[in-house]
Amino acid sequence: MAGPVVDGEYLKEIERTRRDLRALISSKNCAPIMLRLAWHDAGTYDKTTKTGGPNGSIRFEEEYSHGSNAGLKIAIDLLEPIKGKHRRITYADLYQLAGVVAVEVTGGPSIDFAPGRRDSSVSPKEGRLPDAKQGSKHLRDIFYRMGLSDKDIVALSGAHTLGKAHSERSGFDGAWTKEPLKFDNFYFIELLKGETAGLLKLPTDKALVEDPAFRPYVELYAKDEEAFFRDYAESHKKLSELGFVPP
Ligand code: HEM
Repeated sequence: MAGPVVDGEYLKEIERTRRDLRALISSKNCAPIMLRLAWHDAGTYDKTTKTGGPNGSIRFEEEYSHGSNAGLKIAIDLLEPIKGKHRRITYADLYQLAGVVAVEVTGGPSIDFAPGRRDSSVSPKEGRLPDAKQGSKHLRDIFYRMGLSDKDIVALSGAHTLGKAHSERSGFDGAWTKEPLKFDNFYFIELLKGETAGLLKLPTDKALVEDPAFRPYVELYAKDEEAFFRDYAESHKKLSELGFVPP
């Protein structure tokens, strides 16, 4: 099935949507959950069967009720008025644009955004997103299935510089950095420090320091925020375009 027609009017509507997203995300301080929504819609991609991916299917209860998506209905509902106002924009584009704007308004890198994703009404089976209780092998199984690399795994994990875990959603509790509404490289600085009282490290976060192929990226990103921003922007764009060929 074809995607939306990306003509001049669609592009203008994208820019209007971007402005509304900036206003919503800054006024509600909801950048972290918007970024997590974009990632959970995209991160179901399977390159072998070409199923899942950034296609808006997380808007259906069948998918947002998966255990790993706990809490994301809040983000879906916050975006509904924006969808109502900009009807031509697909859910798939809206959710990915919200992720890009979330990174931008919290001080992160600009991420190139190509519109034209089509919406799918088919939700993938539960179990395609990573399990925070596991280690490096599991991270590779999941991210290689999407067609992503070791460098993508580490760079994208840096998104945990934003937001926090909620015990009623994931069973984990707390933020990764002292300023969870600022997109910076403190996730990596804190990872190398080891334990800091009050801050969270998931087993999958710790795996990045312990694994000999992941660790050099953690070290680089902790000491060089520009390198992190450059690689993050590239990996985020890849994540946001899994299975999607811009028209
Ligand atoms: C939050 C796991 C990768 C963005 C969380 C939470 C868990 C988790 C357990 C807490 C959810 C809650 O209790 O509310 C993982 C695992 C990953 C991973 C195992 C594997 C590497 C990513 C990626 C991104 C991302 C690639 C984005 C590019 C976020 C954000 C939050 C979050 C922004 C905070 C949400 C909020 O404050 O409501 N993640 N995540 N995560 N994750 Fe990840």
